[in-house]
Amino acid sequence: MPASKPKIAIVCYSKSGHSRHIAEQLSEVLDADIYALTTARYMIPFFGYLRAGFDSVRRAPTPLTHPLPDIEGYDAAVLCGPVWTSYPAVPLISYMRQANYLPQVIGLLLTSGGHSPPQKAYAMAEQVLGRAFAVQEAIPNSIEDTPDMDDKIARFASDLIAATIKG
Ligand SMILES: Cc1cc2nc3c(=O)[nH]c(=O)nc-3n(C[C@H](O)[C@H](O)[C@H](O)COP(=O)(O)O)c2cc1C
Repeated sequence: MPASKPKIAIVCYSKSGHSRHIAEQLSEVLDADIYALTTARYMIPFFGYLRAGFDSVRRAPTPLTHPLPDIEGYDAAVLCGPVWTSYPAVPLISYMRQANYLPQVIGLLLTSGGHSPPQKAYAMAEQVLGRAFAVQEAIPNSIEDTPDMDDKIARFASDLIAATIKG
C-alpha cells in the first residue's frame, strides 16, 4: 500500500480525440499524469481509418513512436483508448506487449462508438496483459460530457484507488 497519495499514470492513445478527452477528465479526478501513445500510421486522412480497421482485424502490431512512456515508479496505471473492430485499438495492444514496466494495478478505460459491447475488448486486453485488470470501463461517445460520463469516471477512479490501496 502506498504510504502517501497513489501516483497514477494514464497512458492514452487517441486517434480522433475522444479518448484523450476522457483521459483528461479522469486525470482531474485522480490527479494523474497523462502520457500519450503516438504513431503516424493512422494519421493519413481516410486511409488512416482503413488502416486502423485492417490492422485491428489482422491484429498487426503498431509502430509506436519511441521512446514509449516510462511509467516505472507509478503505483497504478490506466490504459485509455478506443475500441477498434470490437478490440482495444492496436496501439494499446502494442504498448502492453512492448512496455518494459507496468505496475501491478492497471485499469482499462475504453471509448467506443457504442455499436459493440465491450466484453470482447476486455477479454482480449486481459489476454495480452496476462492478468486481470483492477477495473475496466467503456464510455460510448454518446454519453461524453453528460452526467453518465461523470458517474462512470467517478466510479472508475474510486475503484482504481481502492485496488491501489489494497495493493
Ligand atoms: C478503425 C475503427 C474501428 C472502430 N470500431 C469500433 C467498434 O467495433 N465498435 C465501436 O463501438 N466503435 C468503434 N469505433 C469507434 C471508436 O471506438 C470511437 O469513435 C472512439 O471514441 C474513438 O476514440 P478516439 O477519438 O480516442 O480515437 C471504431 C473506430 C475506428 C477508427
